[in-house]
Amino acid sequence: MVGIVGRVAKSFYVTTPIYYVNDAPHIGHAYTTIAADAIARWRRAWGDDVLFVTGTDEHGLKIQRAAEEHGVSPQEWADRTSERFVETWRMLDITNDDFIRTTEPRHRDSVQAFLQTVYDNGYIVLDTYEGLYCVACEAYYTPDDLVDGRCPVHDREVEQVTEENYFFQLSRFEDRLLEYYEKNPDAVQPAGKRNEVLGFIRQGLRDFSMSRTSISWGIPLPWDERHVTYVWYDALINYLTVAGFGTDKAQFERRWPVDYHLMAKDILRFHAVYWPAMLMAAGIELPKCVFAHGYLLVGGEKMSKTRLNQIAPADLVAEVGSDGFRYHFLADQRFGPDGEFSYEAMIARYNSDLANNFGNLASRVLNMATNYCGSATPDTRADGPLATASAKALEGCSEAFDRLDFAGAMEAVWQLIREANTFIEDREPWKLHKAGAADETANVIGDCLEALRIIALLVAPVIPRASALLWTRLGMEGTPQEQLLPGAATWGAAVTRDNRLDKGDALFPRIET
Ligand code: ME8
Ligand code: MG
Repeated sequence: MVGIVGRVAKSFYVTTPIYYVNDAPHIGHAYTTIAADAIARWRRAWGDDVLFVTGTDEHGLKIQRAAEEHGVSPQEWADRTSERFVETWRMLDITNDDFIRTTEPRHRDSVQAFLQTVYDNGYIVLDTYEGLYCVACEAYYTPDDLVDGRCPVHDREVEQVTEENYFFQLSRFEDRLLEYYEKNPDAVQPAGKRNEVLGFIRQGLRDFSMSRTSISWGIPLPWDERHVTYVWYDALINYLTVAGFGTDKAQFERRWPVDYHLMAKDILRFHAVYWPAMLMAAGIELPKCVFAHGYLLVGGEKMSKTRLNQIAPADLVAEVGSDGFRYHFLADQRFGPDGEFSYEAMIARYNSDLANNFGNLASRVLNMATNYCGSATPDTRADGPLATASAKALEGCSEAFDRLDFAGAMEAVWQLIREANTFIEDREPWKLHKAGAADETANVIGDCLEALRIIALLVAPVIPRASALLWTRLGMEGTPQEQLLPGAATWGAAVTRDNRLDKGDALFPRIET
């Protein structure tokens, strides 16, 4: 794909976890997915050739049991629940380029090709396993791992399991992993999470069983069809499947290694220890970055099916819209640490940032432009406070997005929004207009229109609907998505056309509480 003439667009590949289909989509799943969407949109705006993928994890005991409880086949259950994720992402304006389901034939092919390679390379051996299994984690524990005899993650009973299993020799990768993370300090982020991963590896790694004979709902091992692949081993490989592993060599070379695997900290270990070891065993390059954010908490606790404290995205979207929802989770929650979800805080920030600061600026400027400027084209001057503030916003926004600091990126834009509001208070264009200073009035309003145009571009990854609406109201051609940064977001890059300005109604109607 060619972006700017003569320049071949850089590949940017970002993933979310593939979510289990035992559960309905909730705001925790939405959180990671919106973040991935925002960075995907941002990179597209910079001309990258983006591959952004999400999907569903459909094999394993947990899904088999959920299906049994509902009296349907696992496939039917997976079909139903997977569709709910698809619908949720549509509702939230998620622009994923692909949606992977682990029950698809392309995934089976890729898993079997991968497994055969690792088996042939001698990292998978047959052995007997006895252990304590948590079905919710789909993982074995030793008695030491347990808290009061229960799963340390889910606080539920574990099951005693004895099986003949194939084992993946994770223990052989301790040194190689440590060396890798030594040489690639940014491969796990944030830094605190990297330290946890290093600590875990240094404690010593145990081989883990990567096949099951006790269940049938999985992908058969290519060399021994009595066994199905352990769900985590199967699931991680999705990231290769969508990049064309085993099916499209040219595509795979272009896409791999992945730029970002995003997830919450619950599954960091699988991504930062198991996964790189699996890739090493297959002779495949490692991900550039595994980024683990914190939990969204409800009443101080992680949302979970057992605690019944899950919140459905649709319930919040009904109140604040898709943009309001996205804005809350990206701008109002820090991407990294845990954060408590608060309905009141969401509404308060919606009213102050979106309805007041941003929404009022847009309607004020568009109103003044149509009322005061008549058919005279409001001029954008080459310099002035808003030119400087816009350049700063673009720079601050870029730096923050590149660190996946979405709140920081929006903070940089809101700084510009505040300055534009202050600029209007200072210059009082209504007085200029009344005094008959037409040129000066047009200049002040022209600067505001240009600031708004840049704001529309910078907020597009987070609040795409309002961005597109504002773009049109400013009389701009095309859509914000089609504009290429940084050029399009530099001061004076385009002129809004007064004859096409459209006041419209409030971008973000206030929510009364
Ligand atoms: O673990 N706060 O799937 P899963 C923040 N299938 N993020 C949350 C969250 C919360 N309270 N709850 C869920 C699996 N998430 C495996 C993944 S990947 C190869 C296989 C998000 O349905 C967050 O991204 O349990 C977390 O890592 C993920 O959902 C877990 O989803
Ligand atoms: Mg989970």
